[in-house]
Amino acid sequence: TSVESGCFTWSSPSNIALVKYWGKKKNQIPENPSISFTLNECKTITTLRFSKKQHSEGFSFEVFLDGKQQDDFKPKVETFFKRVEVYLPFLKDYHFTIETSNTFPHSSGIASSASGMSALALCLMSVESALSDTLEEAFFIQKASFLARLGSGSACRSLEGDLVVWGKHEAIQGSSNLYGVKYPLEVNTIFKDFQDTILLVDKGEKQVSSTVGHGLMHGHPFAQERFKQAHKNLTALSEVLQKGDLDSFVSMVESEALTLHAMMMTSMPYFILMKPNTLEIINKIWNFRKETGSKVCFTLDAGANVHVLYPFNEKEVVLKFIQNELVAYCQNGQYICDQIGFGANKI
Ligand code: PMV
Repeated sequence: TSVESGCFTWSSPSNIALVKYWGKKKNQIPENPSISFTLNECKTITTLRFSKKQHSEGFSFEVFLDGKQQDDFKPKVETFFKRVEVYLPFLKDYHFTIETSNTFPHSSGIASSASGMSALALCLMSVESALSDTLEEAFFIQKASFLARLGSGSACRSLEGDLVVWGKHEAIQGSSNLYGVKYPLEVNTIFKDFQDTILLVDKGEKQVSSTVGHGLMHGHPFAQERFKQAHKNLTALSEVLQKGDLDSFVSMVESEALTLHAMMMTSMPYFILMKPNTLEIINKIWNFRKETGSKVCFTLDAGANVHVLYPFNEKEVVLKFIQNELVAYCQNGQYICDQIGFGANKI
């Protein structure tokens, strides 16, 4: 098919892992399976314009963030295009304009790579399906997730909701190292409207990128044990999710977060991404739980920000606690109220 030009827009959310992905093999194959909540409010909206060009050597594209040209993003997109070129043979035949914006504050330390790469992958899949008349609908999301993985591993978990698994696990049917799949097992209704309030502790540039962090898992003294543990935790979490066992959920999710950071602290060279305020917040959450019996817990990404997770029925109480006791530890008092979401949308 010959299509001269066109334009597609997708919105795609961020996600927060419960069992963490940390360590990968060649071609963005994860060392262990992971599972995440898809978020609802933290999203990237990307418009991809494409027009046929005369000569097809090299990639040709421009990137705009909030309407401003962003040459800083070009190397990332170039790397991504190189990786996916074999799966999207039209890439060199078109000039692309990528216009992107995030619903969360720019450089808030919230990983925009998951939402950004998944939104771009979906736009490219829309181009692919405009050019081919044989693409099956069921395959669209799977291939988009496959492509998103090649942009940023965790991005492959952002296309659907409300829980997504990435990485082969024998007890999870359909799970794959190549793309994320909607978690296929029964989940207790308590998790259907779970809340995530993201406390922005440090908005600065990370000292160690996740690419470098993953790399340091090669030859890491605890790596093999960690990969086994993640596997076991995912098995155990399946039962927790089904039963709605919040006490076990809390201990597993917090242990996963601290283990992720323990891997960083025991890498060589070692590094610490938590900040003093991260620890202040963690201690406040533990005290609050002890005093009130609340089921609120925390998790962390590869950064200093804290994701505060809690069931919807505790929303009022926990938000009051956050405002009274935790906001003081946020940079400029900033936090984002989010909850579990249902994946990407074509606009
Ligand atoms: O997707 P990457 O390569 O940026 O890795 C991020 C991994 C963590 O966010 C730390 C954990 C996870 O599973 O999302």
